[in-house]
Amino acid sequence: MPRLVIVSNRVPVPKPGAKTQPGGLAVALKDALEGRSAIWFGWSGQTSREPGDEPAIVEANGVSYATVDLTEQELKLYYTGYSNGTLWPLLHYRMGLVEFRREEEEGYRAVNERFARVLAARLRPDDVIWVHDFHLFPLAGALRRLGLGNRIGFFLHVPFPPAPFFAALPRGEALLADIAQYDLVGMQTEEDAANLSGALAGAGLSTRVEAFPIGMDAEGFAKTAARAARSAEAKRLAESLNGRALLLGVDRLDYSKGLPNRFLGVDRLLRRFPEQRRNVTFLQVAPVSRGELQQYRSLRRELDELAGRINGQHAEVDWAPIRWITRASSRTSLSGYLRLAKVGLVTPLRDGMNLVAKEYVAAQDEKDPGVLVLSRFAGAAAELPGAVLVNPHDPDEIAEGLNDALSMPLEERQARWRENMALLKQNSAARWSKGFLAALGEDATPPGSGS
Ligand code: G6P
Repeated sequence: MPRLVIVSNRVPVPKPGAKTQPGGLAVALKDALEGRSAIWFGWSGQTSREPGDEPAIVEANGVSYATVDLTEQELKLYYTGYSNGTLWPLLHYRMGLVEFRREEEEGYRAVNERFARVLAARLRPDDVIWVHDFHLFPLAGALRRLGLGNRIGFFLHVPFPPAPFFAALPRGEALLADIAQYDLVGMQTEEDAANLSGALAGAGLSTRVEAFPIGMDAEGFAKTAARAARSAEAKRLAESLNGRALLLGVDRLDYSKGLPNRFLGVDRLLRRFPEQRRNVTFLQVAPVSRGELQQYRSLRRELDELAGRINGQHAEVDWAPIRWITRASSRTSLSGYLRLAKVGLVTPLRDGMNLVAKEYVAAQDEKDPGVLVLSRFAGAAAELPGAVLVNPHDPDEIAEGLNDALSMPLEERQARWRENMALLKQNSAARWSKGFLAALGEDATPPGSGS
């Protein structure tokens, strides 16, 4: 089997002795990395004054993690500026938030070129390269310009908007030309795949674009959650509820997640369905993210104010409807909270997949499962037919979804959960990574190898 080279902006370098569970991509790629030789390359998460092109290497579990520092300036242009200030809102259909500065776009390209140089020096001709997410769109083009003929695949973890949205991006054609340099581009949903293919066709470009909805290890997560729910911390949470139903949201503090409307949905629930008033507690865990950007800071202020106002209006001396935590929690702790929640509330305005929706389902106790209230605009909506789907732009619809979930009889909850869980088990993380790599043709002769 050829060596596998994973490239992503953030690299989950294992810390010696650390017991923390790895998150998202590391879990999803576990099976793809097992039993083969592999490199995982990307940013170290650190800045330094003069980063060299010599990566720091950590060997663990057969994988060689290779990372490079960025300068403060590179980070500002490539990560904060172009990736998070331009591409992120654009890809999430938020035209009003898109900021474009030429120097940031140039900085973004320069970092991709530097990554390509550092990586190229370590590549063998038969390595299969799999690049992840919007920070690295130009990487294949940069590698090709250095003369590399390897198979290179790309997976976009976030949505891709319809062509007319994308057309608003200055120099968007250059980015599409970069994307066309990949042998295979994987997207979360059929809709995203159709949107990207449309944008490519409009620019007279093409490459193979297909949907590979990302999966998870549902059985493994279920075990972790069941164990975590027995921990002292989870017991503290359960006891603090005094018999009320826990409604739970877990998201990065990001404007794509629909948090203000979610808070307003809880407010509407309490007003319109007064019988629920003393029956529920809503816990939102939203670790602060990308605080360098003003949009994220003002979202935090907005939510601080909303939570305070809603609590002030509804609270009683021994109860407040909203608990709001902006600190990070470990994945294991979160899995325990998810298991305790009677309702999982996942209402992004747009989301590539949303693994929290899947994790909520996997974490449930099959004898008495809770209900997932899910945005119809999350990629996960196409894969969780047992969820109560809502339009996240309408707090009243969120309130109705919550009320339906809270009133749902046990038999219906079990039937919905079984349907969701069966699909989660089928669309596993292993199936996702193996499916993508098979489609990339990793076992075939690399193109341009001349044999
Ligand atoms: C999303 C993106 C990832 C990113 C993550 C956390 O899930 O798809 O690429 O790593 O958000 O954001 P951050 O900016 O902290 O890496």
